[in-house]
Amino acid sequence: MDIRRMKKYIKKNLSKKRYEHSLGVEHAALKLADKHNCDLVKVQVAALLHDCAKNFTNEELLKYMSQVSIEEKDIYYKQPQLLHGFVGSIIAQVNFGIKDDDIINGIRYHTTGRENMSLLEKIIYISDYIEPNRVFKGVNELREIVEMDLDLGVLEGLNRTIKHTIDKNELIHTLSVNARNYILANIK
Ligand SMILES: [Fe+2]
Ligand SMILES: [Fe+2]
Repeated sequence: MDIRRMKKYIKKNLSKKRYEHSLGVEHAALKLADKHNCDLVKVQVAALLHDCAKNFTNEELLKYMSQVSIEEKDIYYKQPQLLHGFVGSIIAQVNFGIKDDDIINGIRYHTTGRENMSLLEKIIYISDYIEPNRVFKGVNELREIVEMDLDLGVLEGLNRTIKHTIDKNELIHTLSVNARNYILANIK
């Protein structure tokens, strides 16, 4: 896997801010991967490519709708940007020859989460939230929770996203609801 080519691609295709965010996610994710004994190379690839379709317009994202399951179509028509993870996972496969399911799913579900996420998926999901460039009220508290317990951190991230989505009166993706319920029901 050609990490240099991936970095070059995201540098060229993403805004400067989004490129730096991607490097921030790489940094945060590698730190967590090291701590939790997750495959470092897989985590690095998923982190670098997680937002690789973030520059796509709504129109470009919607071209991929034929590959989305019927139940999910409604929400994507209303909020096409929710598709950037799914489309990113396709770009990772087509442009970079990624075949590893864990990497593909890490990219695919990084915005919504999903039920029964793998360790890599959790690491990418929460690193997207807490990478060093992120500044929002409560980010340091969230970093502390992640440091203490990864699952609690992911739960807190999902809670924040769902609350924020309600505040904006937008549709909540069922994947996020399922992710939250699963993690809450299984927490030790
Ligand atoms: Fe994203
Ligand atoms: Fe991101």
